[in-house]
Amino acid sequence: MTDPYLDDAQERPVNLRHLRRLWPFVRPYRRAFMACLLMLVLSLGLDLLGPKLMRLAIDGPMRPSSLLVGERLWQLGWLGAGMLLVTAGGTTLGYLYGTLSAWNGQRVIRDVRAALFAHLLAVSPSFHDRNPAGKLTTRVTADVENLNELIATGVLQSVFDLLKIAGVLTALFWINAPLALFTLASTPIVVVISLLFRRNAQRAYRAVRGKLALQNAYTAEAIGGMRAMRAFGREAAVLARYGELNRDTTNAWLATVLHFSVFFSLVDLALRVTTIGMLWFGGKAVLADELSVGQFVQFWFYFAMLSAPIKELGEKYNVLQAAFASTERILQILAEPLFPPPAARPGHRTSARGAAAIAFADVTFGYDPQRPVLRQVSFDVAAGQTVAVVGPTGAGKTTLLSLVSRLRDVDAGAVRLDGVDVRDWDLQALRARVAVVSQDLFLFTGTVLDNVRLFDRHIQEDRVWHWLEVVGAAEFVRALPGGLQAPVQERGGTFSQGERQLLSFARALVTEPDVLVLDEATASIDSRSEARLQTALRAALRGRTALVVAHRLSTVRSADRILVLEHGSIVEAGDHAQLLAQNGHYARMLRSLQEQPT
Ligand SMILES: Nc1ncnc2c1ncn2[C@@H]1O[C@H](COP(=O)(O)OP(=O)(O)OP(=O)(O)O)[C@@H](O)[C@H]1O
Ligand SMILES: [Mg+2]
Repeated sequence: MTDPYLDDAQERPVNLRHLRRLWPFVRPYRRAFMACLLMLVLSLGLDLLGPKLMRLAIDGPMRPSSLLVGERLWQLGWLGAGMLLVTAGGTTLGYLYGTLSAWNGQRVIRDVRAALFAHLLAVSPSFHDRNPAGKLTTRVTADVENLNELIATGVLQSVFDLLKIAGVLTALFWINAPLALFTLASTPIVVVISLLFRRNAQRAYRAVRGKLALQNAYTAEAIGGMRAMRAFGREAAVLARYGELNRDTTNAWLATVLHFSVFFSLVDLALRVTTIGMLWFGGKAVLADELSVGQFVQFWFYFAMLSAPIKELGEKYNVLQAAFASTERILQILAEPLFPPPAARPGHRTSARGAAAIAFADVTFGYDPQRPVLRQVSFDVAAGQTVAVVGPTGAGKTTLLSLVSRLRDVDAGAVRLDGVDVRDWDLQALRARVAVVSQDLFLFTGTVLDNVRLFDRHIQEDRVWHWLEVVGAAEFVRALPGGLQAPVQERGGTFSQGERQLLSFARALVTEPDVLVLDEATASIDSRSEARLQTALRAALRGRTALVVAHRLSTVRSADRILVLEHGSIVEAGDHAQLLAQNGHYARMLRSLQEQPT
């Protein structure tokens, strides 16, 4: 595990109940999983058949008898052919099992990954506020990968190991009960060794994860703080600290290896000592004619088959435990409620197009319901009107906008679009009518075209050009190497603030929305760009209802009505001239704006 945010204490013993919750993912492939299990059982049968054939050979043609040598060779040949078939069958099964189980595992993993990613896109924004993106990325990648261990081989292989131990023990008793009882006498020793090993190995593994998490956290921080560190010439100190952490990680790993080699050697020792006893007791039984030589050899082979599954079970336990912890974390995310919650009944849809009316009625909202950010906000925007919202930073302007397209839900009151509560709208229909231009102007990795039509291939290029033309972005896009196909990297960092804003306008407009919800970016831009943006905005607002958070004087002036928001309440409302005449908050704000050197 390489996750610095990981809480190691979460690790619990393997809990089979979780497997049940994974069932929906496994269910579609249950036949393939059954086939895998069947193959394992078959291969166990073949494994047991080999020594049986050996015994038949030893007790049959190889034993001195009155039969002709030719005849005995013939029999031996048949047995040899049988062995060949068993081997060929075993190899084929092994190949098929390996392929099918990997295939199964990967398909389940693919589904889990898809479900997890889809879920992360659909949960409440507040969930993302609480969980760093890096941590969630680890969930979708590393934890899902761990789950693969569980699905692809872990569970089936462990079932097989148990089955093999049971099968071999049964076979041993079948051949000779007293001798089998004697070998069982060594079992308690092996069990005690396994239990001791499990506890120690678990502790050692946890230490590895802890050290690794520390080292990773330090690495991330050192890289992030690289500039500061270099500017102060602290490379040597950082390197030394890294060296220490690195050594700790290595030592922790070596400790687990130590545990494993001790465990393996002890199991081997116990089994070997038992075989010495077997030689004595078995040999005596052969001399007393209670056991044939062939049976003795068969017994010996079977006993040797016990070592592998015992070791594997010991080894698998840790892998399984890590996988179970990952499963738990994945299931935890999948249990996170969706936002908005899936509607109980079909939402409001309408074929009506054209500007829509917006109404806020006594809206109260807080990210933390105890501390409201908006308090009883009420206002109306008539269809086709443009209303500007102004106010100091942190007043709640962005928050207010997020309620219109239902990125968040009100705590009290209601937001209505065309008289219908947004919570009663079909979400797709609502968002098709309302386009949002957000403050942080996010551009995705891809091309300019991708960014304007947001990866929606139904939107034709000429429509993209049309809107780029309207907002006045066509000129600079044409000048880009590749035009619409020009690459966008680093969240659009290679574009200027104004260009990004124009692209965001175009992005909102290509969907031909009826309502535009616009959060102006705060950064000040030069006067030429300002004029260009103003033209773009006028074009964008034509024939639409708009709720605009305005940071620029020109935008505010041209609005039909202005709302002044302070500490989450509307303190003034009216048009530019009215508010100026009132000589209150708005007039004060305006004076400070005009003092800015734009
Ligand atoms: N995701 C969030 N979780 C918790 N609190 C938030 C979150 N987003 C904003 N806030 C808080 O809500 C308040 C209003 O924030 P908002 O972003 O609406 O301000 P704003 O008026 O848009 O400011 P600006 O002019 O700087 O954009 C602030 O006190 C802010 O700290
Ligand atoms: Mg804001």
